[in-house]
Amino acid sequence: MSKVTLTVNGANRDLELDTRTTLLDALREHLHLTGTKKGCDHGQCGACTVMVDGRRINSCLTLAVMHEGDTITSIEGLGTPGNLHPMQAAFVKHDSYQCGYCTPGQICSAVAVLNEIKAGIPSHVSADLTIPQQTTAAELRERMSGNICRCGAYSNILDAITEVAGGQA
Ligand code: FES
Ligand code: FES
Repeated sequence: MSKVTLTVNGANRDLELDTRTTLLDALREHLHLTGTKKGCDHGQCGACTVMVDGRRINSCLTLAVMHEGDTITSIEGLGTPGNLHPMQAAFVKHDSYQCGYCTPGQICSAVAVLNEIKAGIPSHVSADLTIPQQTTAAELRERMSGNICRCGAYSNILDAITEVAGGQA
């Protein structure tokens, strides 16, 4: 067992965990923040995506004790039912989900993607790294490729992200 302190959605949370506990299980099973979903538990689906110090991460692939002092943002920290984050509102507007299981991870990933583009972080489809990255459909598809949607809501997810990015959906 080991003690770890995380800042989760703005609140300091002190935990005593088996050192083998993933960040995903710490959030879901210990802090009862069940918005973050467990899909594959193997880093292949993106359902468990959260932001750690502003960068997205598959929370099933990292141990909670590795994040002492880190700031974690899960879907519960982005907005509330009465005060949705613009990305959450865009997902509702564009009907960007069917069963909703992948949606928290999609939204956390999408918020981080737009920050990555703003920060000039290149992706696999960034042909020219000397010019600012654009929020083209190809760019967004590539950056969101780690988030699988079994219901196939991809085109509507793309519309929602495009709108929040300031483009035409
Ligand atoms: Fe983490 Fe699938 S549950 S990537
Ligand atoms: Fe069902 Fe994406 S909405 S898996």
